[in-house]
Amino acid sequence: MPPLVFAGEARTLRESLALVAEGKGFVLQAGDCAETFAEFNADQIRDKLKVILQMSVALTYSTGVPVVKIGRIAGQFAKPRSADTEQRDGMSLPSFRGDMVNDIAFDAISRNPDPQRLVQCYNQAAATLNLLRAFTKGGFADLSRVHQWNLEFVGSTREGRRYEQLSNEIDRALRFMEACGIDLRDEAQLHQVDFYTSHEALILGYEEALTRRDSLTGDYYDCSAHMLWIGDRTRQLDHAHVHFLAGVQNPIGVKIGPTTTPEEAVALCGALDPNKEPGRLTLIVRMGASKVRDLLPPILRAVQHAGHRIVWISDPMHGNTFQHATGYKTRHFDDVLSEVAEFFAACHEVGVWPGGVHLEMTGESVTECLGGGDEVLGENLEERYETTCDPRLNARQSLELAFRVAGLVRA
Ligand code: PEP
Ligand code: CO
Repeated sequence: MPPLVFAGEARTLRESLALVAEGKGFVLQAGDCAETFAEFNADQIRDKLKVILQMSVALTYSTGVPVVKIGRIAGQFAKPRSADTEQRDGMSLPSFRGDMVNDIAFDAISRNPDPQRLVQCYNQAAATLNLLRAFTKGGFADLSRVHQWNLEFVGSTREGRRYEQLSNEIDRALRFMEACGIDLRDEAQLHQVDFYTSHEALILGYEEALTRRDSLTGDYYDCSAHMLWIGDRTRQLDHAHVHFLAGVQNPIGVKIGPTTTPEEAVALCGALDPNKEPGRLTLIVRMGASKVRDLLPPILRAVQHAGHRIVWISDPMHGNTFQHATGYKTRHFDDVLSEVAEFFAACHEVGVWPGGVHLEMTGESVTECLGGGDEVLGENLEERYETTCDPRLNARQSLELAFRVAGLVRA
């Protein structure tokens, strides 16, 4: 099958990330925990993109810092699991590992891995990417349409009104520039958006099949997405995932959880960024709101001392998951916000630029995470709990978080 992305695009993303490493940009990496075959349609892709564009406008406008937009999309189908098996009503079956591997239905046949799913993932990723390219390059992401990204059910809410106000200011700024005689029609930056794809490179059979030698440079690129990351459960130095991604030239991410030592972080940098090139490596910190403030500074110092210029971003989702009394796996908006704030404080202490956030979100009004402007309560979880893996911020919670993070960047 043809590659999904072009090596030159991955290089452009690396250049943008190199600027982030120098403190001249901010990363917004966001999307589903797990894409699925069942929830695959144009509206769902469009609404997720709308919210990411809104978040990015909120961040850019109030901080004056360019935002590098990277979706967890068009390939995010495989899930690492902490437990190999799942128990229900006295029955034990292999865990669901994402639509790339098996089916979520709880019966033995569904949970059997099926390699044909790799092909279906490829096809769905291609169709998703095609639509994203059409939306971001074909007029939908034009800044003059900034109002239209506000979703109907968000428009009348507090976050929606705040966004509307910001859109009005952007309109005014555009009219002002036109009045000054600047012809905005020629400014491609106002009419198109660079939107990149990423996913966890978990199933190496899929990644290997899409890895190609770039004819321009002779280097290998994993052309399943622009950026690939290694999860917290597969980041062992002597294991296959680190070894594989060390051999491709895409920008690479590694999740680092609370068990990461400064020595391990430095060793990962050595393996994945041997030439110490800014933009090559992003460390995605997911320690938990109560841990990051203490655990991160020694890691930041050790990596800095080793001479790597890393992009540091905060994943405030994966260290803050808990099981609610109703049985649902959830996260509280306040913990998510608090982890980002503590991450910023840790970076500030060491003099490192807090380079971005990595979020699990959707453009729909799901009730998977607690709190936020919506004030989702425990009893609301069952209303629209649709994720097949981790709980996602809904559209309002995502927009509210973007405004709050913008406040942190400004500060
Ligand atoms: C994820 O990003 O969905 C995930 C499983 O993350 P982590 O590897 O950080 O647990
Ligand atoms: Co997740």
